[in-house]
Amino acid sequence: LKVGVIISGGGSNLQALIDAAAAPDLPAEIGLVISNNAGAYGLERARKAGIATKVIDHRTYPDRESFDRDLTVALEKAGVELVCLAGFLRVLTDEFVNHWRDRMINIHPSLLPKYKGLHTHKRAIEAGEEYHGCTVHYVRPDLDTGPLLLQARVPVLEGDTPEILAGRVLEKEHLIYPEALRKIALGEITVEGETPMVNGHPG
Ligand code: GRF
Repeated sequence: LKVGVIISGGGSNLQALIDAAAAPDLPAEIGLVISNNAGAYGLERARKAGIATKVIDHRTYPDRESFDRDLTVALEKAGVELVCLAGFLRVLTDEFVNHWRDRMINIHPSLLPKYKGLHTHKRAIEAGEEYHGCTVHYVRPDLDTGPLLLQARVPVLEGDTPEILAGRVLEKEHLIYPEALRKIALGEITVEGETPMVNGHPG
């Protein structure tokens, strides 16, 4: 399975995917890493792993449609079959999302459908949540919606700051994103009607 990863920043989830794809028992290869930021450290992670990289800077485009079109051109030129959004902070057009329907997944730092959007850890703490977590899901036009693939849950502890909680969640992200890629690469996932998995078991 040829995978394309799109990032904007540090790329710790990208690194987890790189490490997983390097395992001989996983039939997945990361063929291209695209960043909308030239300074994203994730590009360095890709280069170190010998993976092709490309910067497609949204600031150099007049509109979202032309930016997204160049994303698809680059992905298809690299023969990408599955797109993984990993810390990618741009909203994608419906056209792009529908073009890659059921061939594009994302990791979001909350137990979707709760806490769509940004600052999820801060919001969970302020709401007095007992648990928080992360979700791998298929991307649909509406932000942070779409069929859930895997979730991991962590406790919210006394004295947690958003940063502490984010760190606890990120550790789980690095587990469930590669696991989701594995399930897709091994053909274990159908999309519609998939029961959400919680900690690796049907939810
Ligand atoms: C993290 O907050 C993660 O929860 C979300 O994007 C942010 C950066 O991730 N998916 P990464 O280290 O760039 O993968």
